[in-house]
Amino acid sequence: MKLTGNTIFITGGGSGIGRALAEALHARGNTVIISGRRRVNLDAVVAANPGMAAIELDITDPASIEAAAVRLIAEHPDFNVLINNAGIMLPDQATGRIDDKLMIETVTTNFLGPIRMTAALIEHLQTRNDAIIAYTSSVLGFVPMAVTAVYSATKAALHSYVLSQRFLLKDAGVRVLEIAPPWVRTDLMNSGDAEEAMPLDQFIAETMAVLGTDADEILVEGAKTFRANVGPNEHGLVNDFNEFASIRFAA
Ligand SMILES: NC(=O)c1ccc[n+]([C@@H]2O[C@H](COP(=O)([O-])OP(=O)(O)OC[C@H]3O[C@@H](n4cnc5c(N)ncnc54)[C@H](OP(=O)(O)O)[C@@H]3O)[C@@H](O)[C@H]2O)c1
Repeated sequence: MKLTGNTIFITGGGSGIGRALAEALHARGNTVIISGRRRVNLDAVVAANPGMAAIELDITDPASIEAAAVRLIAEHPDFNVLINNAGIMLPDQATGRIDDKLMIETVTTNFLGPIRMTAALIEHLQTRNDAIIAYTSSVLGFVPMAVTAVYSATKAALHSYVLSQRFLLKDAGVRVLEIAPPWVRTDLMNSGDAEEAMPLDQFIAETMAVLGTDADEILVEGAKTFRANVGPNEHGLVNDFNEFASIRFAA
């Protein structure tokens, strides 16, 4: 995608990957509108980046999505790039009774949320030049982490949805991108200080470089082994990865 001159709406822009991506895109001469639930985070990011704007949004709430979409289009009619980035990740227990609240929140935030957000904005995007819909999935959509089984499944589902939407929009002038991060140092799963995770600034630098190409899948080097998981040979990779993860994320 072109990296300058866009008007970009990014969900989950108040922290972590969303904030860092918003700041990198803002610095490259884009108009950036961030969103999320925590007003205090949104205000801090806008204060640190003059010219940025924010819209409160709860991606689990269809009414909030509709309201944010109406406001976004009214206040930023040039809006041409949607980055569906908001997500939650919580450990679960696929060996037992999955907590129903966790399951519904995770599926609603990570899977239904991006679908609904896109649906609310797609008619507008189809009227714009250089229109992009991007989704932050995860390498765990390609190789599940057993201790976050529901989360991993939402990201696999999102990947599948992206493939369908990309196919259907291929002649409509709207490109559909998937950003599939590996483990990155953010608040997600308390990984801010995790030595094994990729530093956030390094992830953003690599991601921006790939975003600036015509790639549909935005993969940093550390994500490629996971993405290369195809076909019947996946069990070795899934098992080896989960031997590591079950020790690292032992309750
Ligand atoms: N960090 C990693 O290792 C990693 C790896 C692969 C994929 N990812 C994906 O990257 C994305 C960003 O995660 P992160 O690592 O940057 O963690 P993060 O700092 O916790 O960011 C998640 C963001 O999502 C927003 N969010 C959560 N629930 C929301 C809701 N109901 N409505 C609106 N916004 C909501 C949060 O804002 P509020 O709480 O203020 O609403 C927050 O800004 C997620 O989709 C995650 O799955 C992360």
